[in-house]
Amino acid sequence: MQLPKNIRYIGVYAPEVNIFENQYPVCGMTYNSYVIMDEKVVVMDTADACVTDRWMDNLKAALEGRKADYLVVSHMEPDHAANIGRLIELFPDITIVCSAKAQVFISQFYNQQTADKCQVVKEGDTLSTGSMTLKFIMAPMVHWPEVMVTYVPECRLLFSADAFGRFGDNDESSAWTDEARRYYFNICGKYGNPVSTLLRKAAALDIQTICPLHGPVLTEHLEQYVTLYQTWSQYKAETDGLLVAYASIHGNTARIVNSMLRDMLHEAGIEAHYVDLTRTSVSEAIAQAFRYPKVLLAACSYDAGLFPPMEDFLMHLRAKGYCNRVVGLVENGSWAPSAGKTMRALLEQMKDVSIVDPMVTIKSTLSAESEAQLRLLVQALKA
Ligand SMILES: Cc1cc2nc3c(=O)[nH]c(=O)nc-3n(C[C@H](O)[C@H](O)[C@H](O)COP(=O)(O)O)c2cc1C
Ligand SMILES: [Fe+2]
Ligand SMILES: [Fe+2]
Repeated sequence: MQLPKNIRYIGVYAPEVNIFENQYPVCGMTYNSYVIMDEKVVVMDTADACVTDRWMDNLKAALEGRKADYLVVSHMEPDHAANIGRLIELFPDITIVCSAKAQVFISQFYNQQTADKCQVVKEGDTLSTGSMTLKFIMAPMVHWPEVMVTYVPECRLLFSADAFGRFGDNDESSAWTDEARRYYFNICGKYGNPVSTLLRKAAALDIQTICPLHGPVLTEHLEQYVTLYQTWSQYKAETDGLLVAYASIHGNTARIVNSMLRDMLHEAGIEAHYVDLTRTSVSEAIAQAFRYPKVLLAACSYDAGLFPPMEDFLMHLRAKGYCNRVVGLVENGSWAPSAGKTMRALLEQMKDVSIVDPMVTIKSTLSAESEAQLRLLVQALKA
């Protein structure tokens, strides 16, 4: 890991974690934490309860017998703050540096005695560690309201809290974008404006290293990652193309999507990507939906409503602030198709989502009439 010589990584990669925050399937997870070894010793956040022992071992090894003077708390979510109590047991005189809101959260998650150890900082405040300066920058709602990031001008380094995090390991050489996108839209997706605000503040700084709370320390391709964050936080499509998201019970809708529709899209020259919502984590489907400017939703009717995997997907999109997209609808039903109406009602609650005509209604399997409708929909999506 490429860090300046007096900043040490004490985070933990936990390969055994397969569900993060009890909902996102992951191939392992990293809980990052750092120690600044200067005239003063500063611990930058703690770690999740599932890695307590490994984190404590890393901490003790890094400290080489010295005591920690400060703990900087960027974020009070328990995946980072679960070990504040353990740190205080080791160093009862430690000063906790955090935002005013974080102090309130510390009193809630711990107790008033712990909160009394806080030195509250606000935008632009600094703390000298001896040869280095920690400059605190507030980043409210870059996940939670108490979040702040810390810039170290002497090292051109930003401790970025959850921003620029990634699911999975902390190997900088492994592909970043796919798991960082899925992480962004699921963790921060709803908070595009606060993320944009943070990016504007960061643009004024000279940054060569980003130390997030999850995933690799970033020292390369920073411009590319910042550009992606700008695109994502502004809810803009990352690349041209169409996402086809479908959910089928008995396979008729899926068959139509994967045969007739696929051929029609190909002939129309539309670059399409497919997500079977019954086989894909909704977290991945969400990331893909934000990736493209257009989406085609195909689902069957279910108890006078919508087949739940599609309903769940749309409710998640609504919760994450999905907006600014073009949508085509395909419904299937055998007696009283209801999927389309339900999808439309959910989409109408999202900002700047335009539904293109015609909505295609399939009665069990494709007929000459529904096939013609489908062709019209493909043409409309091409426009
Ligand atoms: C539990 C259940 C509830 C359903 N509810 C409806 C309904 O309310 N209206 C309707 O027209 N069809 C309903 N259907 C029928 C399916 O939507 C219809 O057969 C459709 O063609 C299935 O498409 P698929 O093969 O892609 O799953 C229901 C099917 C199941 C299994
Ligand atoms: Fe978080
Ligand atoms: Fe986190």
